[in-house]
Amino acid sequence: MANILDSFRLDGQVAIVTGSGRGIGAGTALAYADAGADVVVSARTVSQLEATAEKIRERGQRALVVPCDVLQAEQREALVAKTVEEFGRVDILVNNAGGWPPKATLDTTESEFDACFRFNVTTALAMTRLCVPKMVETAGGGAIVNISSVAGRFNARGFAAYGVAKAALSFLTKNLAQDFAPKVRVNGIAVGSILTEALKGFMTDAFEQQMLAKTPMKRLGKVEDIAACALYLASPAASYVTGEIYGVNGGLTQIQVEMPEANI
Ligand SMILES: NC(=O)c1ccc[n+]([C@@H]2O[C@H](COP(=O)([O-])OP(=O)(O)OC[C@H]3O[C@@H](n4cnc5c(N)ncnc54)[C@H](OP(=O)(O)O)[C@@H]3O)[C@@H](O)[C@H]2O)c1
Repeated sequence: MANILDSFRLDGQVAIVTGSGRGIGAGTALAYADAGADVVVSARTVSQLEATAEKIRERGQRALVVPCDVLQAEQREALVAKTVEEFGRVDILVNNAGGWPPKATLDTTESEFDACFRFNVTTALAMTRLCVPKMVETAGGGAIVNISSVAGRFNARGFAAYGVAKAALSFLTKNLAQDFAPKVRVNGIAVGSILTEALKGFMTDAFEQQMLAKTPMKRLGKVEDIAACALYLASPAASYVTGEIYGVNGGLTQIQVEMPEANI
């Protein structure tokens, strides 16, 4: 057997990572470049995409910047088309763009619920539907990694929109794995609290202490914690893994965010 570390490499492969201007998406894009992949970086803010692309090029890999709002169908189509046009293949898709703040359920409108579902679930399905035929056509197969959340695993107040959306994304991941095996593997990550811009937005000292008290590993996560798992799941090392949701969350068995009781 060759050195097992070789099976974690992505040499010659092309990855599309949505939401890769910053945070978990950017960290994952860099991990893939470290492993030898060329990476298509995509989100809405071009300056942030350029910064990620620069770091990929410093690692000796090719980077293609394609601005794309995943909520826009024609932009999603252009993202996949430009990838194939520029790099000739697509092997890996990371559906990372997503998110939604917790909010009291009685204050969450029907349109907010729908928008949350569309952002976290529908766009991942749409990107998958675009990429799977191209993966098979250009690379003989591929791997998809969906960035889900512990919010889709555990029940908590204030997570009617986000928790349900991420639970749906995790379930969708398992269904898609059945659809596309053996050519395309589909896995997900149940992410815990990672200190990105998204989390910093509502972080206070008191909130951090509350979170740490509920985290067995006694720290918040880093983007590299998620990127390492996203690399494994995309790589040949995981060639027998599909339909799984791996937890990378410091051992959580509950949601760390405590929302107020419903005012009823
Ligand atoms: N951080 C956490 O603690 C945590 C926990 C559990 C799960 N997650 C999940 O991890 C994923 C990434 O979160 P993060 O914390 O890394 O967030 P982040 O730091 O805010 O980064 C989000 C990235 O997505 C892009 N993005 C936002 N809206 C987009 C859109 N409509 N179309 C395309 N790209 C878009 C952003 O760039 P632009 O705004 O420029 O488009 C940015 O590059 C999300 O799916 C989130 O639900 C995060």
